[in-house]
Amino acid sequence: MLAVDLIRKKRDGKRLTRSELEFLLRGYVEGAIPDYQMSAWSMAVYFQGMEPEEITDLTLLMAESGDTIDLSGINGVKVDKHSTGGVADTTTLLVVPLVASCGVPVAKMSGRGLGHTGGTVDKLESIPGYQVELEPRRFIEQVNTIGACLVGQTGELAPADKLLYALRDVTATVESIPLIASSIMSKKIAAGADAFVLDVKTGAGAFMKTERDAIALAETMVRIGKLADRSVSAVISDMNQPLGSAIGNALEVKEAISHLRGERFDRLTELSLELASEMLLLAGHSDDKAVARDLLESKLKNREALQTFGKLIEAQGGDARVIEDPSLLPQAEYVVDVKAPIAGYVHTVEPLMLGEIAMELGAGRVTKDTVIDLAVGLEVKRKVGDSVKTGETLVTIHANDKDKLAVAQQQVLAAFTIGDSEAPGLPLIYRRITTKDV
Ligand code: URA
Ligand code: CA
Repeated sequence: MLAVDLIRKKRDGKRLTRSELEFLLRGYVEGAIPDYQMSAWSMAVYFQGMEPEEITDLTLLMAESGDTIDLSGINGVKVDKHSTGGVADTTTLLVVPLVASCGVPVAKMSGRGLGHTGGTVDKLESIPGYQVELEPRRFIEQVNTIGACLVGQTGELAPADKLLYALRDVTATVESIPLIASSIMSKKIAAGADAFVLDVKTGAGAFMKTERDAIALAETMVRIGKLADRSVSAVISDMNQPLGSAIGNALEVKEAISHLRGERFDRLTELSLELASEMLLLAGHSDDKAVARDLLESKLKNREALQTFGKLIEAQGGDARVIEDPSLLPQAEYVVDVKAPIAGYVHTVEPLMLGEIAMELGAGRVTKDTVIDLAVGLEVKRKVGDSVKTGETLVTIHANDKDKLAVAQQQVLAAFTIGDSEAPGLPLIYRRITTKDV
């Protein structure tokens, strides 16, 4: 087999077989196939696309290219969730205790990653003592005793994807649905769950800007699941404004706790309940979504989900008193409100602008070596459609550095447009895609 023949075949719009894809990927990982040939193949895929079976072969080959996590030591169907990434999105911290409190085991591995705030693992490290690094043997034992774990990634998952993603990043081939779908699904499959719920965001603050692209990506991933014998469903959700209110690590933990305590019910709660009920369906815990949803709401009301979160924190060495007293989390030195300069209705709240301001305050990583300041970030107090009076708080800034605070104070208002006319609120969930739809 020659790489050039496989590139030509894809260039001409033909499907590569599993053994041809294996030849390319293995050769690439081992260094026998150079970057320029893999880039040419990626560009051919960008223009020609891939067949569903071909995408599935690529996904499984990438999943098998490194370590895979064996969760067979946990009883029952193991369900996981994945989000394509949004601003003020701390659903994982709600969904994991919610689902676990219904008796469905959740072994959740999360990354750190680059971005406006840290990943779930960074957020959890704001809880004093919390250990994110657990060996599979230990976290599996924890899931069997308390029903859940929230840990950092162990092992090297899907190294072929890591190499290919880095290459795509510099060859203008990231924006290919078959390549994105296989990239995401390879990592989820390597992480060992039987079933996944995918939260595919769409809008100004999302990777998929249009609803059409978000649906195409979701359908492709659900189809991969179907062909690879994993139950997968997807929810297309809005990212035209921050999902919740907090953008920042300790602030997001605090926000999650206040939801689990039943002190707030908003878009973050709504999406968390939606994703959690999909997980209960996939786990076979329930076959009726309304029943699943009622059960989850009862776990919020009776605080069982909160108690589960407390047990999880304790099992991982953290100070579980934070669920009663969030002031035990790191606090920023300066806490300053930014107020509405005029009265009216909120027409837009730009998620990426606010995300970038939080990152500049120190909440996120600019490069992989950035040290995150867990205490800093923003609390966004107004959503699209809300009315505001002059002088009411739009955003509260949490900062540890006077200069950075001043910059954030200058920039925050630009993320809002306030108009005289009433503005409709934004939808939250655009569509649900299950195996039956693909
Ligand atoms: N996220 C991924 O993990 N992979 C992609 O290709 C794009 C986004
Ligand atoms: Ca993972």
